[in-house]
Amino acid sequence: MLFLLIILSFWGPAVFTSAQNLPLFSTPRKTVSLSRNGGYIFQEEGVRNYSAMLFMEDMGVLILGARETILALDLANITHKKDMIKWEVTPDKWNTCLHKGRNLQTECWNYIRAIHRWKDGRMYVCGTNAFSPACKHLSYTNGELTLENKTLNGYGKCPFDPFQRYVYEFFDDELYSATSMDFLGRDMAIMRHPDRIRTVDSDSWFNDPTFIGIKNVTKGMENPDGDDDEIYLFFSETAVEYDSYVKLDVSRVARVCKRDVGGVMPMHKRWTSFLKAQLDCPVLQTKLPLIIKDVFLFCPGNWTTCVFYGVFTSQSDMLQFSALCTYRINDIRKVYSEGKFKTLHIDGNFSKWMTYLGELPDPRPGACINDDARQKGIFRSNYLPDETLLFIRDNPLMDQAVKPSYKQPLLLKKGAAFTSIVVANTTALDGTSHQVMFIGTASGSVLKAVNYDRKMVIIEEVQLFNHNEPVKILRLSTAMGLLYAGSEEAVAQMPFCACSKYTSCTDCVLARDPYCGWDLVSKSCIAISNIHSDEHREVVQGLKDATRCPAVENTKIIKIFYPGQMVSLPCQLESNLSRVQWRVNDQPIENDKKYNFQHGSLLILNVSDTDKGWRCFGCFPPRGIFLGLLYAGSEEAAAQMPFCECSKYTSCTDCVLARDPYCGWDHN
Ligand SMILES: *[C@@H]1O[C@H](CO)[C@@H](O)[C@H](O)[C@H]1NC(C)=O
Ligand SMILES: *[C@@H]1O[C@H](CO)[C@@H](O)[C@H](O)[C@H]1NC(C)=O
Ligand SMILES: *[C@@H]1O[C@H](CO)[C@@H](O)[C@H](O)[C@H]1NC(C)=O
Ligand SMILES: *[C@@H]1O[C@H](CO)[C@@H](O)[C@H](O)[C@H]1NC(C)=O
Ligand SMILES: *[C@@H]1O[C@H](CO)[C@@H](O)[C@H](O)[C@H]1NC(C)=O
Ligand SMILES: *[C@@H]1O[C@H](CO)[C@@H](O)[C@H](O)[C@H]1NC(C)=O
Ligand SMILES: *[C@@H]1O[C@H](CO)[C@@H](O)[C@H](O)[C@H]1NC(C)=O
Ligand SMILES: *[C@@H]1O[C@H](CO)[C@@H](O)[C@H](O)[C@H]1NC(C)=O
Ligand SMILES: *[C@@H]1O[C@H](CO)[C@@H](O)[C@H](O)[C@H]1NC(C)=O
Repeated sequence: MLFLLIILSFWGPAVFTSAQNLPLFSTPRKTVSLSRNGGYIFQEEGVRNYSAMLFMEDMGVLILGARETILALDLANITHKKDMIKWEVTPDKWNTCLHKGRNLQTECWNYIRAIHRWKDGRMYVCGTNAFSPACKHLSYTNGELTLENKTLNGYGKCPFDPFQRYVYEFFDDELYSATSMDFLGRDMAIMRHPDRIRTVDSDSWFNDPTFIGIKNVTKGMENPDGDDDEIYLFFSETAVEYDSYVKLDVSRVARVCKRDVGGVMPMHKRWTSFLKAQLDCPVLQTKLPLIIKDVFLFCPGNWTTCVFYGVFTSQSDMLQFSALCTYRINDIRKVYSEGKFKTLHIDGNFSKWMTYLGELPDPRPGACINDDARQKGIFRSNYLPDETLLFIRDNPLMDQAVKPSYKQPLLLKKGAAFTSIVVANTTALDGTSHQVMFIGTASGSVLKAVNYDRKMVIIEEVQLFNHNEPVKILRLSTAMGLLYAGSEEAVAQMPFCACSKYTSCTDCVLARDPYCGWDLVSKSCIAISNIHSDEHREVVQGLKDATRCPAVENTKIIKIFYPGQMVSLPCQLESNLSRVQWRVNDQPIENDKKYNFQHGSLLILNVSDTDKGWRCFGCFPPRGIFLGLLYAGSEEAAAQMPFCECSKYTSCTDCVLARDPYCGWDHN
């Protein structure tokens, strides 16, 4: 009887191969479960639609808003519930909702959509309240939530329709909300409370919009023009400016100034500083513009360095593209302050949005009140002349679109749609700072990505929820180093990094995670932030290229097989960015009748007598594992015959001069 003997030898550096033509940038290196990443899930029987989150870092609690429920969870460990209270719809509201023809099962509930903490420490919560938006004051003391009895009017602060996308931001305790102002959801506006300055109710201001994000930018003293603080609104809407037979949506960014108090009639209590522009995230594969789904504002230094990170998806369901584009604040401001306007050109029955080529009134329409305006005696927006006001009332749209940084997306990916994004900042071992992007998807996962010299690396994809449970809300707490995500059914918590899951030096270093490094002394993958400056530790990190890791000792595994059998050689892949190449006696082999490649493993079908002799099989994942297969007549012969033990050559010359066909020197 013939035996097949397999010796599997593992050692460190092997030959590096990778397929350049594959779009590696959009493949996550690893797919990891939440628990493996040190995360937790919170779920509560009967509670759903988690859609509002508030961090109270000083008290160590996370306040959650869900359907008819407010929860207080331990910020460090969300599985620990501190308190839970109900805010239910009253029978009369419920009846009214029913009589107005709304769906009892889905719509006539109180969906908590906004939670804010005032400077005095009290909280403010708003809910849809069965199509009758309302707000209440809330407090958290001694581990208990208390909702005040008094109900406050929530019109314009919270949507009527729970299915409507809605955004809000408290800026110095003033509420800026972008939502519907009426029951039917026709009058859409961005409004400031309590002074109720709002947008003009006209299609040229908002045309069936979906509000996506609202961000404030504080300039403080760092502003040479004496310009105002600003509020940026991101949304998508039906385009008015294209000749199109089909409904075409576009992404937009609009801006209003904080000290805008509205104009004089007919712009009384209307923003005089509302300007909007198209937001481009160009993708060659699609003709229709991509639609924005979420935005995150990241400011690495003073406000002039602020960057908006936006995630987009294609508007046709056929093309499942998602993209990430970034926009510098100054590129947006330049379009508003220097760009041309669009205007509606009417000629008989025919009307079309075209570039406005005439003289612009002075002061420039839509500008914040700055030193220049003050010099002209215009100290407040209600001093603005009629010409400026009427111009902006009719022409809030800029002619030029805002282009992304580098004129193209940072990341383009097929598959599950992007739904949300947050960005964390970290310092690597070499002192460089990196922005780590966490992108939520429609299939319940989060992608963790870093941009190295304009090449995106998706370090991992962490599955937080079930595949049919989209990530609806994503927040991060820099103080805790934790990420929090909400879906309709659950809430998840996850640390920015879980380095200990990498068990080998190569795996740890090749992850290119700026949070992690390999400690040569303790032989473990550790968080860079855990290294104290007074400690002397030897840590390896290689973000832009793979750094050297010490060679791993040889391991031999001997297996015996019989002719006619099927032999499976495992080649454990620690990364989905690895491409395996199998070689037999140093010749690459094809996936054919005899050799079958499966997820990195090699299946040798029907080994036979003719395979007798020495064979050396190698699998070459990048810097991964090398496997040798020995096929021989007997076990004794196999034991006698050393081969493929390339590691015995310790220098390059030694290795090369051996002229051993099984061996090669890896320069890395
Ligand atoms: C590679 O991707 C597949 C499919 O997404 C996944 O199941 C697998 O776990 C990934 N491999 C690693 C090492 O993460
Ligand atoms: C609430 O969650 C359920 C799933 O649990 C979902 O079907 C429903 O659409 C959600 N409602 C809203 C208003 O988002
Ligand atoms: C979080 O809480 C769970 C359940 O009580 C517990 O098993 C886990 O160890 C806790 N984790 C931490 C980091 O405290
Ligand atoms: C709030 O309402 C509850 C029940 O209706 C009542 O017991 C309580 O006294 C009220 N609290 C205040 C401060 O009015
Ligand atoms: C937004 O406003 C808050 C104060 O309400 C301020 O702390 C924060 O820095 C502002 N954000 C930016 C990006 O300027
Ligand atoms: C903001 O920072 C940049 C570089 O850090 C500097 O050049 C610029 O003058 C600063 N701007 C203001 C308004 O302070
Ligand atoms: C980001 O990190 C860099 C370097 O660590 C630091 O200079 C900068 O202040 C950080 N920015 C923020 C917003 O934390
Ligand atoms: C404009 O429309 C009206 C009514 O639709 C029509 O009677 C008229 O002939 C049209 N005029 C032109 C120039 O097309
Ligand atoms: C395996 O190979 C032997 C000899 O080459 C041949 O006789 C036999 O039919 C093969 N079996 C299969 C299942 O292909």
